[in-house]
Amino acid sequence: MGNVEQTYSVLVNETSCEVTCDPETPLLWVLRDSLGLIGTRFGCGAGTCGACTVHLDGIPVHSCDTPMWSVGTKRVTTIEGMSLGDEPHPVQKELIDCQAGQCGYCLSGIIMRAAPLVDAARAGGAMLDRESVCTALDGNLCRCGVHNRIIDAVVKASNP
Ligand code: FES
Ligand code: FES
Repeated sequence: MGNVEQTYSVLVNETSCEVTCDPETPLLWVLRDSLGLIGTRFGCGAGTCGACTVHLDGIPVHSCDTPMWSVGTKRVTTIEGMSLGDEPHPVQKELIDCQAGQCGYCLSGIIMRAAPLVDAARAGGAMLDRESVCTALDGNLCRCGVHNRIIDAVVKASNP
């Protein structure tokens, strides 16, 4: 038997949203099914592929294993909230400029994982090295096998 449904007020991409669901419902399903934010992908559903990565208060998390009861007042950011007005985030821009993706299924998770690292590097005035990008993206799988192009694009994006 499921838990009693609860109503949650959540801040998603700077917009306040109200959703009613079982407290154990993964954030991923609320984003995709209740809020229509389908840029966040379902891959494994078990916290091992990175496809569903979003930010809670700026920190990357797997939305597939983040139950709604644990979100609280944290700010949720999805891939739909990553561009700066009309400007893509630097990671998005380099992935496009380098034509790094293939099918693109993994890319929203990769962008969400890489963006905080790239933002910190740009703010500090120092480019990321390949090794640190590889380590950061170790948990993000790409079934098309274009990791090398993706990693190169992320390194480039960190160039302040
Ligand atoms: S779908 Fe969440 S980590 Fe794979
Ligand atoms: S580009 Fe297809 S899964 Fe990564």
